[in-house]
Amino acid sequence: MPQPCDVVVLLSGTGGNLQAMIDRLQNSSGPARIRAVISNRADAYGLERARNAGIDTRVLDHTAYEGREAFDAALIEAIDAFAPKLVVLAGFMRILTPAFVRHYHGRLLNIHPSLLPRYKGLHTHQRVIEAGDVAHGCSVHFVTEELDGGPLVVQAVISVELHDTPATLAQRVHTQEHLIYPLAIRWFAEGRLALGEDGALLDGQPLGPSGHVIQAN
Ligand code: GAR
Repeated sequence: MPQPCDVVVLLSGTGGNLQAMIDRLQNSSGPARIRAVISNRADAYGLERARNAGIDTRVLDHTAYEGREAFDAALIEAIDAFAPKLVVLAGFMRILTPAFVRHYHGRLLNIHPSLLPRYKGLHTHQRVIEAGDVAHGCSVHFVTEELDGGPLVVQAVISVELHDTPATLAQRVHTQEHLIYPLAIRWFAEGRLALGEDGALLDGQPLGPSGHVIQAN
């Protein structure tokens, strides 16, 4: 039996995506094993979800460090103590330094609640409604030095209805996030997903500019 792929999850909030990973991936025969959950906030509910699942947790309070570089250096040390093959950002609300991103080149994934490259940053659901878009969704991508940038791995697309509000959109996007993030992690853990020179590769083939696209409805 091949060794499972050790994963460290970074989060700042409720950890809905972490829960989806636990539910879909964290069993003894799966290809991925969540070794630790690390948060910059001691009150993040995601830490409780981790503890309930018997996963190691660490808290690194960013306000206790003098600047981004010092915090990210400490974060690297905390992560590498678990020797993960993959690091996943699951609602980790920190801008990462270039040194951090370079350290995990090709093994750092993020999820974002929009169809990147549209709507980087915050309040994506509100911005989609204000723009009158008919489609919305979420994206998993390899992390590069550009905020919410980096080669796309998988996107789930939902349609925006006239009666939608930011809250209804958020709910449908979250449902899709909880499907596509475990999928991308599974691909990586099985050795099928990699970052090539010109973008993400699945089974050695380029995934293209939007990654693998799933039409959710
Ligand atoms: C998710 O919607 C994720 O896409 C978003 O934070 C939320 C975390 O929810 N991430 C970003 O906006 C990153 N730029 P969760 O704590 O329930 O997983």
